[in-house]
Amino acid sequence: MTGQSQIDGNILEGVSATTLWTLHNRGTEAKRSDGVIRDPWAITLFDAIDYDYRKFGRPNQSHALRAQAFDAAAAAYLTEHPKASVVALAEGLQTSFWRLDSMGVASELTWYSVDLPPVMALRDELLPHDDRIVKIAQSALDRSWMDPVDSTNGVFITAEGLLMYLDPEDALGLIRDCAARFPGGQMMFDSIPHWFSRRTLNGMKLSDRYVAPPMPFALTPDEALALAESIPNVRAAHDVLYPPGRGLWKLTKALDHVGFFHRNRPSITLLEFGP
Ligand SMILES: C[S@@+](CC[C@H](N)C(=O)[O-])C[C@H]1O[C@@H](n2cnc3c(N)ncnc32)[C@H](O)[C@@H]1O
Repeated sequence: MTGQSQIDGNILEGVSATTLWTLHNRGTEAKRSDGVIRDPWAITLFDAIDYDYRKFGRPNQSHALRAQAFDAAAAAYLTEHPKASVVALAEGLQTSFWRLDSMGVASELTWYSVDLPPVMALRDELLPHDDRIVKIAQSALDRSWMDPVDSTNGVFITAEGLLMYLDPEDALGLIRDCAARFPGGQMMFDSIPHWFSRRTLNGMKLSDRYVAPPMPFALTPDEALALAESIPNVRAAHDVLYPPGRGLWKLTKALDHVGFFHRNRPSITLLEFGP
């Protein structure tokens, strides 16, 4: 795509602009020959959107590794439930659908893509149409997104990079309502640690020209696991480690044995809903 036909990313504001932060990290990673993710559509989106991506600071592997962890869990669920519904809450500019398709696990699924209208408009403009995708341009907090979701063959819900931006009651209420509505389903989400949340509430600068939005919801890995005791219809909770990456990102598993690191690291949680 030429510079002239690029789309101006400044149409996204507030929390919606953070989808360009994660796209920056995944797109940059996908372009590397030794990158931890293969994602041609992320590269296409990254190149198609004209934006001061560097205001998010130097790119790193975090969001590509997170995406890999979500893909692995979704692929495992889809292998067992090939006709399942996958709901991508706050999907942003994720391209997980095409990554899973290239893994051969998406041919029979239905994919529900939920995000706020400006983000969905950008997806419409830049990503290919596919009959398996149902677009729902609204807040994930408006539970009417649940109505069209076909739960006959299983439901896998992702909330990748969403809950931290919500008020704690909203985040926990969303998990509670998903558990009540989709028995037999699974939900995967990631959480930031409390120290990181506090930093954002004090105005965390990613560069001299960007302050990250407040992220009021945080959970330690153990607090996330305890949701299985406190939320009705959650029958199991699993802490999913970030897969190993390059350099220091190779050490995730080894460092997790250190209590201080374990309590203060970001986490990814997979919930299994009853019965
Ligand atoms: C950090 S981005 C993550 C995007 C994507 N999930 C990813 O991992 O690249 C946060 C996303 O949450 C979306 N978002 C924020 N509040 C939302 C809400 N109440 N309902 C739906 N989407 C929301 C934003 O529009 C944005 O796309």
